[in-house]
Amino acid sequence: MSETSVPRTTADRIAAFEDRRRAAHAGSERAVENQHKRGKQTARERIDQLLDDDSFQEIDEFVRHHSTQFGMQANRPDGDGVVCGLGTIDGRTVAVFAHDFTVLGGSLAEANGRKIVKVQELALKLGCPIIGINDSGGARIQEGVGSIALFAEIFRLNVASSGVIPQISLIMGPSAGGAVYSPALTDFTIMVDGTSHMYITGPDVIRTVTGEDVGHEELGGGRTHNSVSGNAHYLAADESDALNFVCDLISFLPSNNLDEAPLVHAPADLTVDSDDEALDALMPDSPAQPYDILDVVTTVLDAGEFLEVSELFAPNVVTGFGRVEGRSVGIIANQPMQLAGTLDIDASEKAARFVRFCDAFNLPILTFVDVPGFLPGTDQELGGIIRRGAKLIYAYGEATVPLITLITRKAYGGAYCVMGSKQLGADLNLAWPSAQIAVMGAQGAANIVHRKTLKAVADAGEDVDAKREELIQEYEDALLNPYLAAEEGYIDAVIAPRETRERIVRGLRALANKHVEASSRKHGNIPL
Ligand code: HXC
Repeated sequence: MSETSVPRTTADRIAAFEDRRRAAHAGSERAVENQHKRGKQTARERIDQLLDDDSFQEIDEFVRHHSTQFGMQANRPDGDGVVCGLGTIDGRTVAVFAHDFTVLGGSLAEANGRKIVKVQELALKLGCPIIGINDSGGARIQEGVGSIALFAEIFRLNVASSGVIPQISLIMGPSAGGAVYSPALTDFTIMVDGTSHMYITGPDVIRTVTGEDVGHEELGGGRTHNSVSGNAHYLAADESDALNFVCDLISFLPSNNLDEAPLVHAPADLTVDSDDEALDALMPDSPAQPYDILDVVTTVLDAGEFLEVSELFAPNVVTGFGRVEGRSVGIIANQPMQLAGTLDIDASEKAARFVRFCDAFNLPILTFVDVPGFLPGTDQELGGIIRRGAKLIYAYGEATVPLITLITRKAYGGAYCVMGSKQLGADLNLAWPSAQIAVMGAQGAANIVHRKTLKAVADAGEDVDAKREELIQEYEDALLNPYLAAEEGYIDAVIAPRETRERIVRGLRALANKHVEASSRKHGNIPL
């Protein structure tokens, strides 16, 4: 059959269809080659790698734009630069869309924007996670309002899907202008080191408008967004790493807010083993000495497996997923190895968002507390630690999933309240014998409470430092323990470190049927 002939027989029609589909899938050889040269895969290669073999069912592969400006009528590729459809990951249905940079720079336009909206609506209807693979120059410049209007519609669907189905964004190339806001509205954003960039305005515009000279990587590279801005939650070494991370992440999540996360059969043996016993020796004698909170976290989780998210951002608080007895849980933990585990603006916002994600998707939250307080400093105060720290209080305060909190060491002042305290709504509050639950640490307390005494000692020409040490010791002995809190019921139990896993497993079993009726209000007003 010649290229121009109209097929008249069924066999010819099928052959013509096969030809058209093949051409649509192949794309431009030169553009594909360029894509590969940059260490990037095509949209279809990425989808193939992400999904179970042969599970992809494409929709709208023959959608084309109707633009006529700027010679666009001569360039109407099938699919219009976005590949959409349904497939499975580990047998579970997911929706996916992938910008195809080899077609008009993966730019978003009216026709392909409608494809994305369609697959978003489909995901909502099916109650399945949606994964967006971004590799796009943003709004298609030739189209004008059609492309930016569709951006707005995609955002609206992102918002409607928030807290209903997990939304995951992969950034695998440029994501410029309006294209950054769909990922920002989703739950998790994964970037590839060296080949992905996100910014509202790129280096050229910045140079023109402000005169500032900044490179793509520094402004919007994967490392920047993972470690500085916090816009991204995982920095992948390459595309395979990014796609594998998504599969791991999905394995911990329910398909929607009414569903259960997949249960991985793993009954817990509650006898104390050598890993449990090692916790008895973990806590340093000196409260000033750090230790790795992950040693505690991984002891509790099945096979010690922990999927950390936002590892590079605000590492003073650790967030991530694991399983206990085969059920997914969210972990929030102060990390004494970073900034002594203090809460700052970034850590508060990181933890707050994570708490809200877990709460929206019915994942119990385990909180591990060793926090000397909020980080002091003018940059923190002027940066809004009051309003932004309040987000974490709000997040815990409205959470209705099972909440178990373990205080391993310091739980001082406001940070005690914030980190999943009983009074904020936690169900089971445990503390190790090394816990220090107080308004503040001994040094600060002694200086304030005994200011007059210390001044009198100084005025008398006596040894102030020796007196201060004595008063600090007195304060530590009287207040820095878990028993005052235990006597008042502010914590439910003091436990030996080696009993941690057993108590948490039993606690989660007991809380499995926790149910809290949603309040009738429209929504609260979280301090944004
Ligand atoms: C139409 C686009 C395009 C766009 C890229 N292309 N971006 N076509 N609209 N937005 C086309 C290019 O013309 C080129 O076509 C092909 O895609 C590959 O682009 P290159 O520039 O050759 O690639 P590269 O050097 O890798 O640079 C990639 C890039 C750059 C950094 C993304 O193309 C770029 O700066 N694009 C414009 C980004 C931008 O300003 N977008 C609009 C944002 S405003 P040919 O035919 O030559 O191969 C926005 C508003 C939305 O998004 C608001 C919603 C709230």
